Amino acid sequence: METVVSGIRSTGKLHLGNYYGAIQNFVKMQNEYNCYFFIADWHSLTTHPTPADLHDNVKQVLVEYLATGIDPEKATIYVQSDVPEITELYLYLNMNAYMGELERATSFKDKVRANPDNVNAGLLTYPVLMAADILIHKATKVPVGKDQEQHLEMARTFGNRFNRLYDNEYFPEPYAFSAGKSLVKIPGLDGKGKMGKSEGEANAVYLSDSPEVIRKKVMKALTDGGPTTENQEKPDYIQNLFDLMKVVSTPDTLSHFDELYNKMQIRYGDFKKQLAEDMIITTAPMRDKIEAIAADSDYLRKVARLGADKACESAAKTIKEVREIIGFRRF
Ligand code: TYM
Repeated sequence: METVVSGIRSTGKLHLGNYYGAIQNFVKMQNEYNCYFFIADWHSLTTHPTPADLHDNVKQVLVEYLATGIDPEKATIYVQSDVPEITELYLYLNMNAYMGELERATSFKDKVRANPDNVNAGLLTYPVLMAADILIHKATKVPVGKDQEQHLEMARTFGNRFNRLYDNEYFPEPYAFSAGKSLVKIPGLDGKGKMGKSEGEANAVYLSDSPEVIRKKVMKALTDGGPTTENQEKPDYIQNLFDLMKVVSTPDTLSHFDELYNKMQIRYGDFKKQLAEDMIITTAPMRDKIEAIAADSDYLRKVARLGADKACESAAKTIKEVREIIGFRRF
């Protein structure tokens, strides 16, 4: 059976981008593959969370994983920092990762631009740690959103380089995966780009947002006076809202508003009201579970410990073999 690995950085609440870009696939894949889904708390250190925030953020992602329907009986759910073998593999892979290629990574360049005062080495080697996350379980499929595609290419590069250096075929090639036709990019509500945690609170709709908050955020999304000619191309900020409708609404609803737009009869107030209601409907089953799961500390402890045990077993096997390949011998 093929192995699947994916993770989410623990920087707080999950949003619709995380859900449609990644988690929806996790829930589907757990029935067919050997799945490892983890909470990337080491990756979250690049932005220096306080000790108090760190644990709460990990808990939030764990709770929301469970609320979306990821089943700890089917998939291995674990916290990255519970598996120290990952850092050892990260160290080995770092010996084979070159400054030039790390500096050229799009996400690194974006982070440098956004936070010029915090260009730390962890940020530079972020894709190496990600490769270690994936290769530690020798995964071949990695369900992620479009923004992670380049990181998967780098993971293949590092795995292949290791194989070449030690003249074997130890690591299989991992590929970004989507159960749909292609990798997904969910736009944000600010009309500019993707939905994300660092793009400001109003840009993202969170799985835990109340109906009132969702309505308020969606109604504030940027629109304009409406199309001025029939079948006019949509400006980006309008197209983004249609793209969001594509994931949360029925095809009939989408084509209804598309037609109104093309005939210049669209009323953006009605359009956004519908979009908000459909977001509320799709997130309701998850939102309803979040509070109850968060209150059940015993259950969370059981899930995290079971996941850590299973993930450590797989990781320890890989590290033992990697050490032998590299040439470490015990005296
Ligand atoms: P992170 O925490 O930024 O995002 C988690 C997942 O959500 C997807 N995603 C989106 N997909 C579509 N549209 C969006 N607007 C959107 N925003 C986020 C991301 O593509 C991702 O799949 N580096 C990773 C975490 C990670 C990881 C790994 C993933 C660490 N190690 C190993 C896979 C395998 C990250 O920061 O994702």
